[in-house]
Amino acid sequence: MSEVRSRKKLIEVALPLEAVNAASAREKSIRHGHPSTLHLWWARRPLASARAVIFAQMVDDPSACPEEFPTEEAQARERERLFRLIEKLVQWENTTNEALLEEARQEIWKSWQRACRDNAHHPRAEELFNPKRLPAFHDPFAGGGSLPLEAQRLGLEAYASDLNPVAVLINKAMIEIPPRFANRPPVNPEARAKKALMEREWKGAQGLAEDVRYYGRWMRDEAERRIGHLYPKVKITPEMAQDRPDLKPLVGQELTVIAWIWARTVRSPNPAFAHVEVPLASTFMLSTKPGKEAYVEPVIEGDSYRFTVKVGKPKDPEAAKLGTSAGKRSAFRCLLSGVPIPYDYIRAEGRAGRMGARLMAIVAEGPKGRVYLPPVPEHEEIARQASPIWKPDTQLHGKSRVNVSIYGIETYGDLFTPRQLVSLTTFADLVGEAMERVRQDALAAGLPDDDTPLREGGTGARAYAEAVGVYLGFAVDKMSDRNSAICGWDSSRDSIRGVFGRQAIPMVWDFAESNSVGGNAGSFENALEQIQQVLGHLPSLLPGVSKQADAQNQTVSAGKIISTDPPYYDNIGYADLSDFFYVWLRRSLRSVFPDLFATVAVPKAEELVATPYRHGSKDKAEQFFLEGMTKALARLAEQAHPAFPVTIYYAFKQSESEGNGEARRTGWETFLEAVIRAGFSITGTWPMRTELSNRMVGKDTNALASSIVLVCRKRPENAPTATRREFLSALKEELPKALRLLQAGNIAPVDLAQAAIGPGMAVYTRYAGVLDAEGNPVTVREALALINQVLDEALAEQEGDFDPDTRWALAWFEQFGFGEGEFGVAETLSKAKNTSVEGLVEAGILESRRGKVRLLKPEELPGDWDPVRDGRFTYWEAVHQLVRRLETGGEMAAADLLAKLGSRGDTARELAYRLYALCERKGWSKEALSYNALVQSWPEIARLSQEGKAPAQTELF
Ligand SMILES: C[S@@+](CC[C@H](N)C(=O)[O-])C[C@H]1O[C@@H](n2cnc3c(N)ncnc32)[C@H](O)[C@@H]1O
Repeated sequence: MSEVRSRKKLIEVALPLEAVNAASAREKSIRHGHPSTLHLWWARRPLASARAVIFAQMVDDPSACPEEFPTEEAQARERERLFRLIEKLVQWENTTNEALLEEARQEIWKSWQRACRDNAHHPRAEELFNPKRLPAFHDPFAGGGSLPLEAQRLGLEAYASDLNPVAVLINKAMIEIPPRFANRPPVNPEARAKKALMEREWKGAQGLAEDVRYYGRWMRDEAERRIGHLYPKVKITPEMAQDRPDLKPLVGQELTVIAWIWARTVRSPNPAFAHVEVPLASTFMLSTKPGKEAYVEPVIEGDSYRFTVKVGKPKDPEAAKLGTSAGKRSAFRCLLSGVPIPYDYIRAEGRAGRMGARLMAIVAEGPKGRVYLPPVPEHEEIARQASPIWKPDTQLHGKSRVNVSIYGIETYGDLFTPRQLVSLTTFADLVGEAMERVRQDALAAGLPDDDTPLREGGTGARAYAEAVGVYLGFAVDKMSDRNSAICGWDSSRDSIRGVFGRQAIPMVWDFAESNSVGGNAGSFENALEQIQQVLGHLPSLLPGVSKQADAQNQTVSAGKIISTDPPYYDNIGYADLSDFFYVWLRRSLRSVFPDLFATVAVPKAEELVATPYRHGSKDKAEQFFLEGMTKALARLAEQAHPAFPVTIYYAFKQSESEGNGEARRTGWETFLEAVIRAGFSITGTWPMRTELSNRMVGKDTNALASSIVLVCRKRPENAPTATRREFLSALKEELPKALRLLQAGNIAPVDLAQAAIGPGMAVYTRYAGVLDAEGNPVTVREALALINQVLDEALAEQEGDFDPDTRWALAWFEQFGFGEGEFGVAETLSKAKNTSVEGLVEAGILESRRGKVRLLKPEELPGDWDPVRDGRFTYWEAVHQLVRRLETGGEMAAADLLAKLGSRGDTARELAYRLYALCERKGWSKEALSYNALVQSWPEIARLSQEGKAPAQTELF
């Protein structure tokens, strides 16, 4: 086949990484309206990085367009322009900024037109290079769907596939359903009765969102009618108010309950109290909010006990905090006798079905916020009367079994109280009833009486009803996350916790049972509101498709743009964990997606995670993962659109990113191995994170990215082999240039080494193989070591730009830091560096006293330094003066100095990189932090220094 002409893409050259990372970090704190709140999925990619990566993967690097940008300066200017666009594009606030998105789409189209022109005479031009149609996008490990969603937002037809039915449905809800029913008005009778409403413009999925609200509301009201008696209000009695002045004004009032707080119980192990079920309360604190403290106080009466609730700070804060827990080792203690209750005993009781629960407190909605009340016997009685008609009997698997199963919790049904089961089943069943209503109303509203189901591409009344049903089913799922006996009460925030604070199902001793027909967190209404907020803002522009497929043999990718985020080893057991939601979704939506919900549990065997319990041993699990991943990636190498690179995320496991040890090496290397074996060559690696880099250098650990984007191209069939020597000389030739480019892109020094692996790996993987003198292949591990070595040399070479005093200071600093050393040593070194100790003192960077010398710290440097007047200027002083000014006077003060440095600023920045790399290698985190901060603030300092010049000029006039 004749060659496809493909230009280098921006992502293969440079990225405004810091801006992308900062936006990703910020995005983590955004909840309101964020697509991740549509349905829980574990470890989602931030939209900011997904958006930036896909954009930069589609847009040509200016250096690849010499006809338009003939000089390096012109290319740099154009790159800067694209950077500015990306910096705006990644901001959360711009997620729905149509004008800006359109600008980005135009850039994508511009590059696409070039690709089509370049390949107009390619034999497959008609199929691959249609100038009127952008290629579609595919993510074969779509999960929570950030990548396909962002592709759609950027104007690509998006395809998502995943093995997991829950993930498939999330993607349907994000990219498939909204465009199918876009720009339609709602069908519900309430909206239809309002003329003004029907006449307004219904953009995107707004109409759908309005119907989800209406029919969800109907479900809530209907549920209240059917099961509201299980959620009684609480009446404030004079007895309650006796010792509680705060309750006095509320006497006689009936308050809506937000949650009932229970403690699990076991029989006391003390034979004298063996007939009493004693509480396992991990704390008695109900609220630790300053000024609003509330806590449970048990009252012991002979061989029984009851709970009261007090407000204010407890007399014995430590005891209140501990509840009946007895520290880590001995688990709990018997409330009545104080004897220890060891974990073994609790496990045995749990497995024998003898674990109970006792109501400890009630949280109600008062006129001025939360009110904590003592348990009311009738409320306990009502809860016990709940009798579920259904209980999911799917067994807990793998990651979900850790650690509840040791206490006798074996099935998903066991994770819920009877009342929660009644409630969830009622809501799940109401989804079907609601769908029927939507269908009738849709027909009345004039939608075609078309029986084609949603799953077959229908757009008529039936399909629309099913579409609404999907979001209602999601609301039930969201509710289940806060309606399980695994939900604790968060006393610091006065609210209920979700099940999945972590990627596991942990045991919770005292749990909060929320009022699902109320209006607070944990209620159906709350879940519905969040869904509706997301839905109204989904792009809904172009058709999207989500389907179930095993990435190892999917065929969706053919001719598409690929960006993907595969599972990593045993990091997250998606299939195991998602059963929690699957069982409820299956009950609400099986009729809509019979194939997707055919099995009682999520399919697990083909899931690409290295789980020893599934595969028999650690080695087998690893082999399964590596082979499967290689197979899946090989399909991408074969099928992806040949004019674009493929981007693949690699996520470090916590333990990997915390050390430099074996774990880190094997994980990363094995993954690279799979990528290379799959037939890819790597053309870039970008460290991505959701933490800001400043914080990461904080401790004495090496700062590392939490994930990396690999940019890959299919390796040509006829790629040559190389000798180790050829590989090394190619590295020496190419890495220094790549390094300068990265620095010019203002990459944070913490990310430099990781990002430089990209160009290094590009050299290594361009060959079909690299062989050493004995003819043995140079392994990925060896290649990585060589890349690091050449990188170090390249950084050292940059020293050539520095003055002799700075070169001396660098060498000295490497050995002594800012500490003292012998004058003799300094003198000898100065000869090698062509300077003198006296000269260094004169330059103002060194102190020499009583036979000892030391470099001056930034804070010891003179405050009035002026580089223009300094008779012995050094870059060393320039950098440390900048550090000093940045730390004491902020960016403005540093900018003032940078303006005076003029063209010497760039070399000063190189020195800051060099110093950072040196400190990081030495483990000097405090200094590393200063240099990193300086480089990161550089663009802003540079901008301010430019601005600063303007008034100076006007003053002249
Ligand atoms: C890291 S997650 C993707 C997360 C996603 N990028 C997001 O933002 O939410 C990896 C996904 O791979 C899926 N997966 C695992 N094995 C698979 C296989 N053999 N075929 C397809 N998908 C698979 C998992 O179900 C999971 O959703």
